[in-house]
Amino acid sequence: MRMMIHGGFFTESHTDPETKLAKQEALKRIILQGYEWLQQHSAAETVVKVVELLEDDALFNAGTGSQIQRDGKVRMSASIMDGHTRKFYGVLNIEGVRHPVRVAALLKQEEDRVLGGEMATEYARKQGIEAYDPRIPQRIQEFEAKQKSHGTGTVGCVALDAQGYLASATSTGGKGFEIPGRISDSGTTAGNFASPVCGVSCTGVGEDIVSVALASGIVTRVKDGHSLKEAFRRGFEELKEIDGFAGAIGIDHQGNMWHQDSHPSMVFAAYDGETLTLFQ
Ligand code: GLY
Repeated sequence: MRMMIHGGFFTESHTDPETKLAKQEALKRIILQGYEWLQQHSAAETVVKVVELLEDDALFNAGTGSQIQRDGKVRMSASIMDGHTRKFYGVLNIEGVRHPVRVAALLKQEEDRVLGGEMATEYARKQGIEAYDPRIPQRIQEFEAKQKSHGTGTVGCVALDAQGYLASATSTGGKGFEIPGRISDSGTTAGNFASPVCGVSCTGVGEDIVSVALASGIVTRVKDGHSLKEAFRRGFEELKEIDGFAGAIGIDHQGNMWHQDSHPSMVFAAYDGETLTLFQ
């Protein structure tokens, strides 16, 4: 079994030791809790649980503490891909829910697997998901001062379970101050993709990630015979060609784990049951 998680970027210019330590501690706590869950659950169930834990932590830009859009509203996007069944589920620009990834998971019971906007929110309500305000005072203050929040990030998880199945999930509050209606990569296969051979979750600038189809591109290269490391190298080479800004985590079916970022430094953790690797 293997697990990797990320919490977006922690840009060099906004590094402060306290926040860095808090993020390291949060990732450590969540990956250890998630790995315990993975002992009894499938990868597809586990990535939802882990991303919920990340959505609950206001250190990250997903669920509680999400960025606020230009019109003062929070719109969140999340997706899950089950590498075993090869099914993708997502919600785009959902409002007023605590766990966007949980709503994506509810779509497993439906034929329709990706919902967007107000109708995604309406679907959540019909499924009994309570109204929840994901804004925190700090985000509201930043919004009122017309300041973009720095150092918060999209979250994601990739897991390989005891059966050898892979899954990935990704969740975001978007960029902050975006045009309402903008689509985030986190609710698409460009930002979140898994297959029987590999799972990848991305963070960074959604427009760049979509432009090179980063997650699905890496997974396809592994399927075509490249090593995980080489697949990442090629994906990030394409990203560099457009001067893109992104990071990604990935696990292949043999249990290899890899992460890469275009700029320092992605907030991530990896765990194989023995060794815990944390971003520095
Ligand atoms: N990667 C998150 C976003 O751009 O919305």
